[in-house]
Amino acid sequence: MPATPLAGLRFTITAGPTREALDPVRYLSNHSSGKMGFALAAAAAAMGADVTLISGPVQLATPAGVKRIDVVSAEQMHQAALKVAVQSDIFIGCAAVADYRAADVATNKLKKGASEQLQLTLVKNPDIIAAVAGLAKQRPFTVGFAAETQNVLSYARQKLLNKKLDMICANDVSQPDAGFNSEQNALTALWHGGEQVLGLQTKAALAASLITLIYQHFSQQQTT
Ligand code: C5P
Repeated sequence: MPATPLAGLRFTITAGPTREALDPVRYLSNHSSGKMGFALAAAAAAMGADVTLISGPVQLATPAGVKRIDVVSAEQMHQAALKVAVQSDIFIGCAAVADYRAADVATNKLKKGASEQLQLTLVKNPDIIAAVAGLAKQRPFTVGFAAETQNVLSYARQKLLNKKLDMICANDVSQPDAGFNSEQNALTALWHGGEQVLGLQTKAALAASLITLIYQHFSQQQTT
């Protein structure tokens, strides 16, 4: 294999959490560290690909040779992703996008009221990866992630179908030694008609195996 087997291929990778503002000082978010997405970007770039990384707020350095676009909210990530996806060969949605955002973002800091309860009204965020996979023209080979705590493989396969993806990586985040914030991870990659287990290893090693697997499936699709 040449040192840069992915030379000339354009990857777009989303990573990290999104933050959904409630008021100028508060937000809704999740525990995604961005490490898996950044490891994928580093692995693809090391193999010679042209990589754009669209990242939510994380504490990570940009991998060598990677173009980075920083965003905060799901709506910003959606806008950036659709712009770049149409110029990509492969799109990997690794970000833990918040499913909902506040219906109204308060202009001023919300004040504590007399009531013991506070109700927030949330509205659904756009499904970024489903929008990319649904592109009628210039649709990249689209790979998603499914972080689950139960029925991991069956939920992942449903998402593969519902979001019209080419591949999905099922991630059991109930395991304390894998997934969110960990240095290690284990995944099962599922596609239409098959699956492959990628066992517990560092996110860097896992990313290299996954990028190779994605490239194999992308190449097969190009020749059929
Ligand atoms: O539906 P769920 O959030 O579990 O799906 C996970 C996959 O969908 C991931 O690839 C994630 O990046 C992507 N996703 C997205 N936009 C959303 C929600 C999830 O791109 N609003």
